[in-house]
Order: sequence, then C-alpha cells, then structure tokens
Amino acid sequence: MPPETRPSMPERVNVLLIGGGGREHALAWRLRQSPRLGRLWIDPDSNAGLRAIGTPCTEPISKPAMFRLNRWCDKEEIGLVVIGPEAPLADGWADDLATETRLVFGPGKAAARLEADKAWAKEIMRSASVPTAEGRIFKDRSPAIAYAMSREEGCVVKASGLAAGKGVIVCRTPEEAVEAVQMIMGDPERRTQGSFGAAGDTIVIEELLQGQEMSVLALVDGRSIWVLDPCQDHKQVGEGDIGPNTGGMGAYCPTPLATPEMMSRIERDVLVPTIDGLRREGITFRGVLYAGLMLTSGGPKVLEYNCRFGDPECQPLMARLQGDLLEVLWATAAGQLDSLESGLGSDPRTACCVVLCSAGYPGSITKGHEITGIEAAEAEAGPGEAVIVFHSGTSVDDRDRVVTAGGRVISVPALAADLAAAQDLANRAAARIEFAGAFFRRDIGSRVMNPIS
Ligand code: AMP
Ligand code: GLY
Repeated sequence: MPPETRPSMPERVNVLLIGGGGREHALAWRLRQSPRLGRLWIDPDSNAGLRAIGTPCTEPISKPAMFRLNRWCDKEEIGLVVIGPEAPLADGWADDLATETRLVFGPGKAAARLEADKAWAKEIMRSASVPTAEGRIFKDRSPAIAYAMSREEGCVVKASGLAAGKGVIVCRTPEEAVEAVQMIMGDPERRTQGSFGAAGDTIVIEELLQGQEMSVLALVDGRSIWVLDPCQDHKQVGEGDIGPNTGGMGAYCPTPLATPEMMSRIERDVLVPTIDGLRREGITFRGVLYAGLMLTSGGPKVLEYNCRFGDPECQPLMARLQGDLLEVLWATAAGQLDSLESGLGSDPRTACCVVLCSAGYPGSITKGHEITGIEAAEAEAGPGEAVIVFHSGTSVDDRDRVVTAGGRVISVPALAADLAAAQDLANRAAARIEFAGAFFRRDIGSRVMNPIS
C-alpha cells in the first residue's frame, strides 16, 4: 500500500490481551508503559500479576464464544488484540477477531500451522532450502516403527501437532525410539491410545543434532522483518541440563552464542526464506516468528518453529526492550514495521530470567500455596541494576493471598552489566521468593560462561 493510503495508529488504542501467563504479564507490563495505551483488557483466566494491571474482559474467551467476543470488542472499541499462546493462534482466533477497524497481533490459522503441524513445517523448510534436521514424516505406525528400529545413532520422535511442549522425545537407542512411536501413535498390542490424541496421528522422526540451542525471535509484518536479540532457553528441569523437558526453566538475552555474522546468516538463510516459502503458498505471516535452533558444527539448524513469543524468552526480551511496545505490535499487525518512528532498541544490559516452579513440575503439582517475598526480590537490585517479578501460574485466593496455581509460578528477569552479574542477581532475587515446594535452576546461562561443563 502506498504510505499515504495506509491507516495510521490512533492516538489511543484499547487492547485485549489473550493468554494469562508469564509471557503475557511481561507483554502487559511493557504495554502499560506506552503513553498511547487506552484500556488494557485481559483474559478472565489471567494470573494475579496481570489482574493487578489490567481489567478482565467480561466475556468468556473461547472459540464457541467468538461471535459474542467480537461484539464485545466492537462495544469496547478494541483497536488491537494481542494473542500470546499458540493454541488460539492455531485455532484461527486471529482470523476471527480481525476487522476493518481492529488489528490482531499474531498470525492467522494458515500461518500458525508452522508451529501446529511440524510435518508441514518440515515440508515448507525443505522447499525453501532452510537448514533443519533431516527428518521423515509418518502417518502410519508400522513403517514408523520399522524406521525407528533402524536408527542406531539415535533420533528424535515428534508428534506433529500441538502437545503442550511434551510431544518431542529425544531417543538415544532404537528401543527408546520404538517406545516413543508407540507412546505417540498408540499401541494396539497393549491396547493403548496415543498420548496426544489427534496431535500424534502424524509423527516426524528426525536426526539427533548436537550443539547448543538458541532461540531467535523476529517480528514479521508480512513483508518486513525485525530480528530481536538472540536468547537461550533452558528446557530441562535440572541444573546441568538433566531430567525431563519443561516449558522452559529460564532464559537469558542476549546470548554471546550468536555473533552478528551468525545473526545475519540466520536472517538470510532461515527467517527470510521461510517467510518467502509461506508467501509462495499464498500465506502471509504477521506476528512473531520464533526459530528454535541448534548450533551444530555444520551451522545453525532449525529444530522447530513457533508462531508466538516464547515463554520464558519473552520475559528477558521485554525487560530489555526499549521503545513503545504498543507502537511496535500495532505496526507489525498493520504491516507497517518499516514506518516505526521511535524504532526498537534494547537495553545494553544483559537480562537473565529464572523461573520458580512448584515441587513435582513438570509432573503433577499441588496448588494454592501462599507466595511471599516478591517485594524483597525486587529490592535485591543494586545501583544500575533491576529486578522485575512476573507472575506465571499464580492466582488470588478467597483470603486475598497470592497463591500458586501452576507448575511454573513466577519468572524473575534481572538486568545487570553482564551475564554473570545478571545470573547472580536473578538467583539472589528468586531466593527471596518463597512458597511451599518452590525450586528453580541456578545455572541459567552457565553453559556459555563455563563452556567445558
Ligand atoms: P521442539 O519442541 O521441537 O523445540 O523440541 C523440544 C526440545 O527437544 C528442543 O528444545 C531440543 O532440546 C530437543 N530437540 C528437538 N529436536 C531435536 C533434534 N533434531 N536434535 C536434538 N534435539 C532436539
Ligand atoms: N520457551 C519455549 C517455548 O516457549 O516454546
């Protein structure tokens, strides 16, 4: 569109934020700093931190309620809907909620398939020559099991659909691989169903890559792209990267793993060809494109795409973001990233974020334990430093106490001059927050500071 015919951002924008966890608290905290924010409406299911800074939407937020939610958005003159989590994006809510006068930050259903259908994403990557783990796609059990048996060198078995981060199994032996296929696709001999329902009807079996992992997130407005500083997430539950995978135990940003040359290469060889590959299919991507990468000896390779901000990556990213997040999200949704006047900058300090979890996570946990020490955590910051406490799985009980309500409970990004200082501050701050059974990893970022370990 020529610039003179493009809609310009209104002076004030009312926002509806969908999703109620740590990622959304970080987004809401940054949105609140925009002078152009009108009302900030939040998901009725939001955590206690979000409830302190937004107004819960009075309509239920669900697919069957879309018609009423749209009418409510009209009535409240919502100018921008921001969708945080993957499930509503995969379900097409961005298509449902966009109108002539209302923008949605987050891709439509067709583009969100990049995350919701790993087999399809693999095909898009192949056709666009994007470096990724070699993989095969299976829709039937028998050939999948035969192939799994042949993988002497190990492999990774993935449910193609959304499985809340649990559908990826790293297998060191053929026996483990067969077990993983049976778990995801079901096993008629044992009369078991697949663990992830229809999300496991198709699987991808791919080569087991070695190296450090890195998350590169980019704002994409359909044409232009703005690559954010690289982050490193820590998915395994235990210090030293041991134990089962979680949604993410902590992340820091920027990571020294990526040189500027490597970031240019990732933009040129990974992000841009993927967006072009989608465009060839007639699909426009608007929102955040998140590439989960393995830095192998043969260069960066894509492990997965997500179509949203990562959680917890969003927390350190928002802690460092400089500029007006509302303008940035609006411009992305409007296809106008190129017109951003204030620009997007980053705090020169490093942000290290730790996540306090409930005992038992990522397995079963108990809820309702009182949380204390949040102010003491924030007060740990010295001159030139900052600690921000974001809620993840929390709620307010009937005695008005903030209590635990999930596996990941509180995220604490700390800003300091370098990674070592940020890690130390984040650990000291997190240690001030208490609830029954709380635990967190103290080694977020240690692998790059101490590469031998
Ligand atoms: P994903 O949800 O696809 O990112 O996978 C979750 C985690 O599984 C990743 O963060 C990696 O730690 C691991 N993983 C996924 N694919 C591979 C692969 N091809 N090689 C090694 N590890 C992998
Ligand atoms: N931190 C990983 C994710 O959001 O998928």
